[in-house]
Parts: sequence; C-alpha cells; structure tokens
Amino acid sequence: MVQAKRKILVTSALPYANGPIHIGHLVEYIQTDIWVRFQKMRGHDCYYVCADDAHGTPIMLRAQKEGIEPTALIALMGRDHLRDFTDFGVEFDNYGSTDSAENRELVTQIYRRLKAGGHISTRTIKQAYDPVKNMFLPDRFIRGTCPRCGAPDQYGDSCEVCGATYAPTELKNPVSAISGATPVQKESEHYFFRLGDFEDTLRTWLFPDITEPRHVQAEVANKLDEWFSAGLQDWDISRDAPYFGFEIPDAAGKYFYVWLDAPVGYMASFSQLCRRAAIDFDEYWARDAKPELYHFIGKDILYFHALFWPAMLDGAGFRKPTAIFAHGFLTVNGQKMSKSRGTFINARTYLDHLNPEYLRYYFANKLGAHVEDIDLNLDDFIARVNSDLVGKYVNIASRAAGLLHRHFAGTIADLGPGSAASAIAQDVIGNALQAAARIGESYEERRFGAVVRETMNLADAFNQWWDRHRPWELSKRFEHPAQPQDNEVLHAICSAALEGFRILTLFLKPVLPELARNAERFLNLGPQTWKDLEVPLRTGHHTNPYQHLAARVDPNQVQAMLDNSRENLTMTSQTPVTAPGAGTAVIEEIKPEITIDDFAKVDLRVARIAKAGFVQGADKLLQLTVDLGEGRTRNIFAGIRSAYAPQDLEGRLTVVVANLAPRKMKFGISEGMVLAAGPGGKDLWILSPDSGAQPGMRIK
Ligand code: MSP
Ligand code: ZN
Repeated sequence: MVQAKRKILVTSALPYANGPIHIGHLVEYIQTDIWVRFQKMRGHDCYYVCADDAHGTPIMLRAQKEGIEPTALIALMGRDHLRDFTDFGVEFDNYGSTDSAENRELVTQIYRRLKAGGHISTRTIKQAYDPVKNMFLPDRFIRGTCPRCGAPDQYGDSCEVCGATYAPTELKNPVSAISGATPVQKESEHYFFRLGDFEDTLRTWLFPDITEPRHVQAEVANKLDEWFSAGLQDWDISRDAPYFGFEIPDAAGKYFYVWLDAPVGYMASFSQLCRRAAIDFDEYWARDAKPELYHFIGKDILYFHALFWPAMLDGAGFRKPTAIFAHGFLTVNGQKMSKSRGTFINARTYLDHLNPEYLRYYFANKLGAHVEDIDLNLDDFIARVNSDLVGKYVNIASRAAGLLHRHFAGTIADLGPGSAASAIAQDVIGNALQAAARIGESYEERRFGAVVRETMNLADAFNQWWDRHRPWELSKRFEHPAQPQDNEVLHAICSAALEGFRILTLFLKPVLPELARNAERFLNLGPQTWKDLEVPLRTGHHTNPYQHLAARVDPNQVQAMLDNSRENLTMTSQTPVTAPGAGTAVIEEIKPEITIDDFAKVDLRVARIAKAGFVQGADKLLQLTVDLGEGRTRNIFAGIRSAYAPQDLEGRLTVVVANLAPRKMKFGISEGMVLAAGPGGKDLWILSPDSGAQPGMRIK
C-alpha cells in the first residue's frame, strides 16, 4: 500500500464575479474538493487553487449601475463567493482574483512570448457598436427578432425559442440592451491568437497513442475531434475600451478579452500560494515540470480548456495539464434549474435551510468519471440522507455508543487477534478493510458514486451483523448474565461496531469532512488519514459520550428552501450588493423593451390592504387580504415581512397585479402580486397611489 508521495496541483474553473454561487456551480467545487481531500488524506502534496473571474463587460456594466468602481464590486463578490464555498466545506489552499498583480504579470509575460513566437496577428473587423453608450457590443448585449422563427427579443447570438444560432448582424430590428439604441457597424483593429499554429501539438496531446496516458476523457476526445474537423480558427483575444480588464502592452485602448486572462488566473492564484508557503512555482509550471496538474471544469468550457489553454501554455514555454476532468450539468427534479419553479437555488439559500454536507453527500452519490449531467431529485435527496446516511451509517455509532457507555464507561475492549471481538467481528471488519483498496481506487478515478455505494453496503453489513448478535438482549441481562462470558461478548460487539464505524468514517471523510471531524471527536481520535485504516482502536481506549452526529432532513425544510428561492425572484429579480459606506444599492437587470400592447396585458389595480398577518414558518412573507373594490378580495403572499409589520399595512392603499396567474405556495395560493421597490431587507417600499384613488381603479 506504500505509494510514493505525489505533487499535485488542482483547480476548479473560476466563477464569474457577476453573480452569486448557485447549487449548479457547487457540483464542480464539491467534486474537486472531495478529490483534493482524498489526495491529502493519502499523504500527497496536493494544492487546490481557485479565484474569482473578475474581468469583462458584464462586470463593468454592473459596477456602473451600482455607481461603484469595478474593483469595489469584485472585492465584494469575491468575498461572498469565498464565504459560500467555505460554508460548503470547499477548502482552497488559495483563493485569488484574476484582477491581481500576479495575474497581470503572468498574462503580460505569456502574451509577449506568444507574440515573439509569431502567434499573434492583427486584423480589422466590423462589429456592432452602441452609438449612445459609445462602446462595442458583445453579442449577448444585442437583442432583436430571431431571423429564423421571428421570435422577438432574442439574444444576438442565439434564439431561446427555436435554438437557432446566428451572427448578430442577421438579427432583425436589433437594439442595444444597454441603451436601447440601434447598433451601427464600426471597424476596429483586433488581436488574434493563431490557434492553428498549434494543431499538431494539440493533436498529439489530445489523441495520444493507446500506450500513452490520456489528457481528456474519451467522450471529450470525440467532441474535440469534431472541432478539429471544423478547423481551428484564429481566436480574437482583444476588446476595445471601455472594458474592465488588463490593457494589452503596446496597444493603447485595447484590452485582453476576459477568457485570455481567466485561465492564467490558475497560475496567478498558485503563485500567491507559492509565495506564502515557499513552494517553487517553476517546479510546477516549467515546460518539463514533473508534478501533476489537473483542471476540473464543466462541459460548457471545454473549448477554452482543451484547445486554447494548452496551446497558450505551449506557445509561452510552460507545461500542459496532466488532465482535464469535465463534468456535466446539474438538473433539479429532472429539469433545468428554473427560477419560477424555485429550483434555481443559490448557495446561500440552501445554507439558510439545510446542512451543506447533505448536498456534498448527495452529489457524491451521483458523481462519476464521465461528462454526464447529474440530477438533484429532491425526494431522492431526502431519502438518501435519511435512510442511508443517518439510518445506516450514523445509526451504527449511536446504537453501539449507547451500550458501551451504559455498561463499560465508553472504553474499548481488546480487538486484537484471539480476542472475543475478533472472534465475533473479524469477517465484517475484514471485509471493510478489504474494500479500502477498491474505495481508494474509486476516489482516484472520481467514481464517488461507487465510493458511497460500497460504503453504504458495508454499513448494511454492520447493521445486519449487529442485529444477528442481539446485543440489546445481553444488555438487559447485564446484571445477571445467562453465561459467564455474556458481558464480555457485549463489550466486544459494541467495541467492534465502533471500530467499524471508524473505518466507514474514514472512507466518507473526503465527502463529509465536518461529520468526520465530529465523529473523530466522539471517538476521541485525532484527524484520521488513510494510513490510520490499519490502526484499530486500542484496548482500553476511551470514547466520548455519543452526541448527535446528523439529523434527518424534514421535507418542510426542502419546501421552505424552494419557496425562498421563488420569493427571492418575486420580490426583486436583482441581487443586492452591499458596498462599504454606500449603503445598499441595487443592480437591476435591464428588461428588454416592450410594446404598449405588451404593457396593456398587465392589469394593475389600486387595492386596499384589508388584513395583514404573519405566515407561520415563512420568515420573509406576510399574508395579505386585499380589497379590489366592492368587497372583491384576494389572498396574496408578499415577501415584505422584513420591511413592514402587519399593523403598518392594514387599511393602506397599494398597487397590485390583478391578473397574475394564481401561484400555489407551501402556505396556500397567492392570487396576485403587490408591487414594491428597493433592494430588499429593510429597504423595501410598497407603492401607494395618491389620495383620492379608490380600490379597484385600473392603473393605465
Ligand atoms: N468564468 C468561467 C470559467 C473560467 S475558468 C478559467 C465560467 N464561470 S461560471 O461561473 O459560469 O462557471 C464556473 C464553473 O461552474 C464552470 O466550470 C461551469 O461549467 C460550472 N457550472 C456552472 N453552472 C453549472 C451547472 N448548472 N451545473 C454544473 N456545473 C455548472 O464559466
Ligand atoms: Zn428563433
């Protein structure tokens, strides 16, 4: 089992700084974290680095809206992201930002080397330009009518209705999503990375002889093969000012496209760690570097990681990754995450309701080595946690510890060869130890589903073994044993069960670090590593009294989380960001232009709030009975509890959407919507008409 110590550098993709972390992202960070924790438990030098992906047009525009500097915005977002990750037990050795001095230096160095190697060319291109905002428009910021199906209000690069992809110039009636102006075509000089120069290098790297190690999964290689057949195009790596990013050296007013400096952020984040921990950066990144380098990514960003990135590294004289591990996308209850279904769940919303380790456990269950999408089925989530994690695994400890403390002061019996425990439990413990090699291999190959399944099978075996020996009967006769050795047998059963629990805890530790820590505390052991598998609990070892290790999930908690995710949406579709000293500001999405006919579909009415009250179990909602005139009342759940007390509202006039389709919520049916403005929390104001308005009046 002795393995040479490996040096491993691991990354997850850098999350964009313009949005919160959601449970889809977490598939990746949890997957990577589990793998890294496993490597560390094995005693390898394994480093896990990540960073916020801070540059680009969306960030720049958001900051403008907020009225703060982009650097202030990304500092706040970076802090929130890291807090979310930390609370999910995702433990980075360094978390940086692509807007760092280290990244600027590395990007500049890489660019200069690529340029010196003749891999950069320039060319003038025509692009959509917003004549009001005086800026070039990324495709996503142009909206218009789909040239294929005629659907209005589609993005500049693709139609969400018919799925067509096209050039923004093909869009009918295009408008800038930023100013509403009609874009004009304007010329500008752009810088290109000549990807085609690296065709041979990439081919050898991506499609090695069968005797050589692979750098991408087989299904990824197939996909890449298609891209090769389509031909490797030059890559536009420059953007014109105004842009939030790094200026290109010797090219005033030109900036590196965010995707050029983003992957370099992996190196930059690692270089921060190197400085802090006295690690040799070059040992990891030089062309002939020996340490392993792995990038965990989602399937949507393969092109960047499997083509551009290795080509850039190669052209700049650095090593290429050992492997790229791509995963699929998360669906919830079999469907794409959806804001209206409440399944677009932010990391923070999850944390407000449920134990983060349960999501780690569930994702581990579902994760394999392939690029398959994974589904979070919420009923299955509840079942897996309650019946397997709590009902099987934790159950072993709670039952055995109870008896061990009642009769033996929590002290472990002799488990060694020839002992009573060994006679009773050597099969079941032996099987668990034998599984270690397979489980270790499954971890190594990212087949975490297999790890969990195998461990739960072992938990089943321990529970059945326990039931077969009926220790509760021995416990009842403890004062008057039927046989002289009965008490010794009872002691042996409880001790062996806790030894089993120790082994299973070790197997699950990369998935459930917090639960494992609590279990170690209960067993009165230091942090267990893989080597400790061979170190059984010692005779006379004292365990601590059992304390609750994990609670069952109440389906109501899951429902409340969904309601909450939906509430976030119904109240404000914006994400509030708190800027220091600036109070609370709101970033609103610009809604696409609508016609007067569109507007006329919304039936806005003056209403009197006849009754207002709290909703039990919903800390954000108030239940309102609103009067739409002539005693026509409606029931509305409004997410305004943080800003209003019921007595402040009763009798007031306000404005409601009267023809919103009724929505079934956990607490009842909501038959309309109250309109309010503001970022949320205390800062929320419902609309009220001037005096004289009467309930039922239509707002035109
Ligand atoms: N900023 C880029 C990555 C730059 S890496 C040099 C980016 N950011 S992202 O925030 O959109 O996504 C970060 C990672 O989360 C990506 O690997 C992406 O595939 C993954 N996921 C985002 N949404 C996801 C799901 N719904 N499901 C699974 N993974 C998802 O891309
Ligand atoms: Zn279309």
